[in-house]
Order: sequence, then C-alpha cells, then structure tokens
Amino acid sequence: MTTRTALVTGASRGIGAATVVLLAKQGYSVLAVDVAADDPALPYPMGSGAELSAVVEQAGEHVEAFIADVRDPAAIAAAVAEAERRWGGLDVAVAAAGVIAGGVPLWEVPPEQEQAVLEINLNGVVNLARAAVPALLRRPEPRSGRFLAVASAAATRGLPMLAAYCAAKAGVAGLIRALGAELGRTGVTANAVSPGSTDTPILAESARLYDLPGAESFAAQQPLGRLLDAGEVAAALAFLAGPDSGAMTGAVVPVDGGLAL
Ligand SMILES: NC(=O)c1ccc[n+]([C@@H]2O[C@H](COP(=O)([O-])OP(=O)(O)OC[C@H]3O[C@@H](n4cnc5c(N)ncnc54)[C@H](O)[C@@H]3O)[C@@H](O)[C@H]2O)c1
Repeated sequence: MTTRTALVTGASRGIGAATVVLLAKQGYSVLAVDVAADDPALPYPMGSGAELSAVVEQAGEHVEAFIADVRDPAAIAAAVAEAERRWGGLDVAVAAAGVIAGGVPLWEVPPEQEQAVLEINLNGVVNLARAAVPALLRRPEPRSGRFLAVASAAATRGLPMLAAYCAAKAGVAGLIRALGAELGRTGVTANAVSPGSTDTPILAESARLYDLPGAESFAAQQPLGRLLDAGEVAAALAFLAGPDSGAMTGAVVPVDGGLAL
C-alpha cells in the first residue's frame, strides 16, 4: 500500500477509469478528471458525469471527481492545484483522455474533427505535462514522480482513415521521449503505454468508422487473438506509476497483445 497521490484524465470510463480504480486499490489518493460532456465536433458520446461519479464511488473514499477539458490549460492547472491542495502534493499524472475520428482519408475529414483529435490527444497531454510536471518537481528530493501518457499502437503504425489520430499518438510518443530526457536526474520520469485494441467505447467508435459490426471485429488482427481489457492496460500504468519503474524513462511500452509486431 502507498500514500501517493495521482491525477488521471479520461477517468469516466475505459482505460482511465480502470486506472483510477486500480491506483485507489493500491492506496493512492486519486483526482479523477474528465470532460464529462459530449463534444459537438464528434459523433459519439464522451464519458458522462454519472459515469465519473460511479467510478469515484467504486474506487473509494480517497478518490474525488474533477470536471475539466484537457484542451483548457487553466482547467487542467486548476485540477493539479486541487490535487495538491487536497492531498499536499502530486506524485503521478496520467494522461488517458483521448478521442477518435476519421473513417475517411485525411483530406476529407471535417476540420473540426481533425482539430478535436489533435487538440485532445496531443495538446491535452502537453497541457497536463505543463501543469503537472512542476507539481511533481515540487515534491522534495529524493523524488519518484511519474508523468504517464496513453499513446497507442497507432503511434507506430500507419492506420488508414485514422491519420490525425496516428499523428497525435506519434506526437505523444515523441513528447514522452523528450520529456524523459529533460527530466534527467530529477527523480521524476516520463513514460507511456501504447495499447492495442482494448474493449472500450473508443474501439466501438473505431469499428463504426471502419464499417465493422463491432469492436470484437478487431480481435483477430491482434496476435493474442482477443481484445484487451482496460484493466490490463491499467495494470501496466500502475506499474509505471510506482517506485519499481524507477529505471525507466522516456519509454513507450507496447501493451498491445502483439498488435505492433
Ligand atoms: N481502446 C483502445 O483500443 C485504445 C487503443 C489505443 C489507445 N487508446 C487510448 O487510450 C486512452 C483511453 O481511451 P479509452 O479506450 O478508455 O476510450 P474511452 O472513450 O472509453 O475513454 C476516453 C475518456 O476520455 C474522456 N475525454 C474525451 N475528451 C476529453 C477532454 N477533452 N477532456 C477530458 N476528458 C476527455 C471521455 O469523456 C472518456 O471518458 C485514449 O487516449 C485512447 O486514444 C485506446
């Protein structure tokens, strides 16, 4: 058990929610952050306020909900400030919020969808790093702060009809490598996981974009032959969040059932 504190974006459902629940189980105090509202640019629902409340309820007494859009630097700074105020500091920040759009070649994607994908999936991670890394560095030495992002197998694969998503996720991988180098000897590290096809609403939306019957259609292309569960990705994030990952920085770790092979 730990007394560390964490902030997780994209916390209403999917990988973010599973990470909140697992970190809380391991003793972390967690600020569960989500936009909790649909996005007018995107044709599928985001996580809701009710889902966010249910995650907080499930995770226990040391978890609080915080509504913020990762595109809004002031809102994300306020979330970090809230975690520090409530629990006296921040040890882990996890950028899990993400969206998908596409289904047509890049040049045919409505500009507002392309913008949402780039701004949420890439700038959202930059915004969290800008607010959270100084908080991680405010902890006294010796530090073991962790900045974590959820990239994707799309960071290294050229997926047709998902070009903006691939660009954003490749951007996240590059950001994490550079951040790891910048953080150097501080005791704070930066790492990412790159999930494969994981059974969450974003994958259901991906199936719709490819005119497939459902998320399960993606199982066969993964060497494991099945979809991943959000908890399996959360398990890797929880390892990276903890002190035992201290030898790793700037790493982008596939948690993808072999999808990127
Ligand atoms: N599910 C997969 O197959 C898969 C594969 C690779 C990478 N990923 C990545 O994993 C991460 C989590 O996705 P998921 O699978 O849990 O999807 P999901 O759709 O279930 O969850 C995404 C969450 O992010 C929130 N969110 C969206 N826009 C936001 C914003 N502007 N500000 C704050 N929160 C916002 C949503 O409300 C939702 O709760 C994403 O970054 C996604 O790109 C998922």
